[in-house]
Amino acid sequence: MDKFIIQGPVKINGTVEVSKAKNACLPILAGVLLSAKPITLRKVPKLRDINTMKKILEVMGVKITIEGDDWTFDASNITSTEAPYELVKTMRASICVLGPLLARFNKGKVSLPGGCAIGTRPIDIHLANLEKMGANIKIEAGYVNADTSKLKGVHLPLNFPSVGATENLMMAAVLAEGETVIENAALEPEVSDLANFLISMGAKITGVDTQTLHITGVKELHGTDYTIIGDRIEAGTFICGALMTGGDLLVKGFNPKHLDFVIDKLKAAGAQIEVGKDFVHVKPSKMKPLKLETHPYPGFPTDLQAQFVALMMTIEGYSLITENIFENRYMHVPELIRLGAQIELKGSTAIITGQAPLKAAPIMCTDLRASAALVLAACCTEGKTEIQRVYHIDRGYERIDQKLVDLGVPLERRNDGN
Ligand code: EPZ
Repeated sequence: MDKFIIQGPVKINGTVEVSKAKNACLPILAGVLLSAKPITLRKVPKLRDINTMKKILEVMGVKITIEGDDWTFDASNITSTEAPYELVKTMRASICVLGPLLARFNKGKVSLPGGCAIGTRPIDIHLANLEKMGANIKIEAGYVNADTSKLKGVHLPLNFPSVGATENLMMAAVLAEGETVIENAALEPEVSDLANFLISMGAKITGVDTQTLHITGVKELHGTDYTIIGDRIEAGTFICGALMTGGDLLVKGFNPKHLDFVIDKLKAAGAQIEVGKDFVHVKPSKMKPLKLETHPYPGFPTDLQAQFVALMMTIEGYSLITENIFENRYMHVPELIRLGAQIELKGSTAIITGQAPLKAAPIMCTDLRASAALVLAACCTEGKTEIQRVYHIDRGYERIDQKLVDLGVPLERRNDGN
């Protein structure tokens, strides 16, 4: 397994272009199953999770051609409608192939995703609403077995604005009979990017960027040539890094509107951030403590919670953050405490006493965003910090080591021999 060795403290300085959004790309890859015509996706990020989804599509018979960062798909000859356990267990978002399989082939067999480090990650909202559309669903031997004569458009009020469920149901609806209305739909930009991808294939979807999506089923979808949005969570991660280390950083390649709430909160706490059309420029700032809690979009994103805990460690005074979305998303805290951070957990709230002196110690990644928090904290830590199991960070941050080295961080990736 690989580890990072980071020599701190160091400023994160310069210009970084974020990659395309992992959490838009994954459902869009599942959406490739909806059409028999050629589809091209531009600048597909090289990530472990993307590679897992690629394997799932290939197991089903999708032909994938890669030229540089551009991928072309041919799903005209699907030979299997099954997503196997050994692939799904490593990447829960695979459950999003179920909607497209039912929509186009009237059947699908997908391994139950299983939990992950940050929570049990149930899929009850996905399944209950697919049943309302006419899917017969049986859970047996760790698999979701689903089939239907034909999915029907219905009214689907979601009891929680689940990102994955909204995406799965939207893809199920684009080829269903009649109109589907998804109420209380997730508003995340990645959901809208999937909707725009489907519309570019001829899907009839209105209400994009609102909590009510209207989808009128069509007979079939044509091909498309599509470029995915920039990764707002990667951008937010680098913004935290610059603020923590007192760097001067230009972060480009994403839509700052997708971080409106986050940037507003940072500016209110003293962050010097200039906002452009597709970039932000972060300057050295004297920050005041922050008090935040995570919510579905457009609220503060749970995917930046860990990185903000690391940022709060560098701000004088007491900061608070409450995690409302996942039940176990503080595994970065014990690792950060190993560096000397003063963080107390009270239920779902973390209380951070800023500016505790940080000293290098071996630490370990536990999940994707926790890993990002550890890397950022190591940049503010005296000495050589060794960060183990960085395969977690490789799931969602393309070439993160190269990008940080280009920003002046003395970072070395080493294989620890096991
Ligand atoms: C997506 O996960 C993202 N993943 C997550 O990013 C992100 O944290 C999450 O949305 C919230 O924004 C991808 O897009 C691939 P949810 P998803 O369904 O779809 C509960 C990262 O770091 N729930 O909105 O799984 C669930 O338990 C990852 O990039 C149900 O109860 O998120 C959780 O508490 C981590 N039943 C909450 O909803 C369901 O059927 C949010 O889940 C579905 C979800």
